[in-house]
Amino acid sequence: MSAPNKTELTAAAPLETLTGRRLALVVTGGVAAYKAADLSRLWIKAGAQVRVVLTENAARFITPLTFESLTGQPVALDMWSRPQYDIEHISLADWAEAVVVAPATANFLAKMAHGLADDFASTFMLAFDGPKLVAPAMNSRMLAAAATQDNMSALMERGVMVAPSEGGLLACGAVGDGRLADLNTIALMAARALGPNDFAGRAVAVTAGSTRESWDDIRFMANRSTGKMGLSLALAAWLRGAEVTLVAGPSLTQMPPKLPDFSIKPVESTRDMLAALEETKFQTLIMAAAPADFRPAERVSGKIKKSGGPPTLPLTSNPDILKSLPRDGRVFVGFAAEDQELVERAKGKLRDKNLDLIAANQAGGDGNAFAADDNHLWLADKNGEVTEITPRPKFAAAWSILDAVLKLRK
Ligand code: CTP
Repeated sequence: MSAPNKTELTAAAPLETLTGRRLALVVTGGVAAYKAADLSRLWIKAGAQVRVVLTENAARFITPLTFESLTGQPVALDMWSRPQYDIEHISLADWAEAVVVAPATANFLAKMAHGLADDFASTFMLAFDGPKLVAPAMNSRMLAAAATQDNMSALMERGVMVAPSEGGLLACGAVGDGRLADLNTIALMAARALGPNDFAGRAVAVTAGSTRESWDDIRFMANRSTGKMGLSLALAAWLRGAEVTLVAGPSLTQMPPKLPDFSIKPVESTRDMLAALEETKFQTLIMAAAPADFRPAERVSGKIKKSGGPPTLPLTSNPDILKSLPRDGRVFVGFAAEDQELVERAKGKLRDKNLDLIAANQAGGDGNAFAADDNHLWLADKNGEVTEITPRPKFAAAWSILDAVLKLRK
C-alpha cells in the first residue's frame, strides 16, 4: 500500500489550482471593462497573483485605483509616465505566466493580430510569449465584420485562446452576439491554460449524480447522490486538458459554466445514461454516478390516486452500465459505494466489472460520501495496487483519481 503523496493538490475548488500563479489581466476600452474588476477578484480569491494593465480608453471606463485596491498591485497604464513602481512591459512579460485580455475590443484584437505596439498594453502583448487568452466584447456588427473575424482566426492559428462572446442585450441597445463571456468561464479557462495539460488529446466521459426511475408521471425513485464527485472529476479532467463529456443525472445541484471542450448531456434514468454513453466518443470513462439498480416494472401514465390505497410496485433490474458498454480498449474507472469491507468489496467489483481502476468510498454511516463535500477513498487498480486517498475536498480527491488513471498507462 503506498503512502499518500505529500505534494498532492489540496485545492478545494477548480479555481484554486491557480493559487500562487501569476496572471496579467489586460483591460481594453469597452463598456464591459467594469466586469474585469470582478474577474480579477475571482482569481485573487482563489489565491492567484494578478497584475492589471489598462489601455488609455479602458481607464475612461474604470479607474486604475479600482484594480490597485483589488489586487494590491500597481496598475500599468502608459509607457511614458515616470515609473513609480517596478512595472514596465518587459519585466511584466517575464513575470506573468499567462495573460488574459478581457474585455478585448475589436481594435485591440486587430493590434494583436498585426503586431502593432503603440502603447503599454499592445507592447506588452507583443513581448509576452506564454499562453494568451482573449475575451472579445463589442457590438455584434463589429464582431461579425470580416476584418474582426480574420483577426480572430489569425490569433487562434497562433495558439491564442478565445473565450467566445455570448448573445444577449448589448450596451448599445442592440440584441446580438458580442457580450463578454461569463466571468467564471474566463476565469476557469485561465486556470486550464496554466494546468498540467497531462490529459490533452484524451476524450473523457464522466457520469455524475443519481438517476431517476419514474413510477407515474409525478413520482420517482432515486438515491442520495448529488453528483459533486462526478462534477469535480469532470472539471479536474478538463483543467488538465481533456475533452470532457459530463453525463449528468437530474440530482446535480451545481452546473459548470459554458466551457469549450466540455459538453453536458443531461439524462434521467439509468437506461438514458447508458444510451447517452453509447453515443459518446471517449477513451476514458469514469462512472462516478450512482445509477439506480432497479426501476418500477411498469410506469403508470398520469398520477396514481391515493384513493386506491398504497400501490404495490413490482421492480425490475436496470442494466449494469459498466458491464453493458463494449470495452474497445478503453479505460474504465468505477466507484464502489460500500457500507463495510470497502477495499475487499471494491476489489470484487473491479474483477466482476473488468475495470482498470476502482475508487471505494463509504455509503452511509460514519464518513458517508453521499452529498458530502469531502471524500475518503481507497483506490484499487487492475495491477493489484491499493492506495489510500486521505479525507480531502472532493475536487482534490478527483485530482488524485486522475493521477492514478495516468499511472495506469505507465
Ligand atoms: N454502476 C453501473 N450501472 C449500474 C449501477 C452501478 O455502471 N446500474 C456503476 C457505478 O457507477 C459504479 C459501479 O458500477 O461505478 C459500482 O456501483 P455500486 O453502486 O457500488 O455497485 P453495484 O454494482 O450497483 O452493486 P451493489 O449495489 O450491489 O453494491
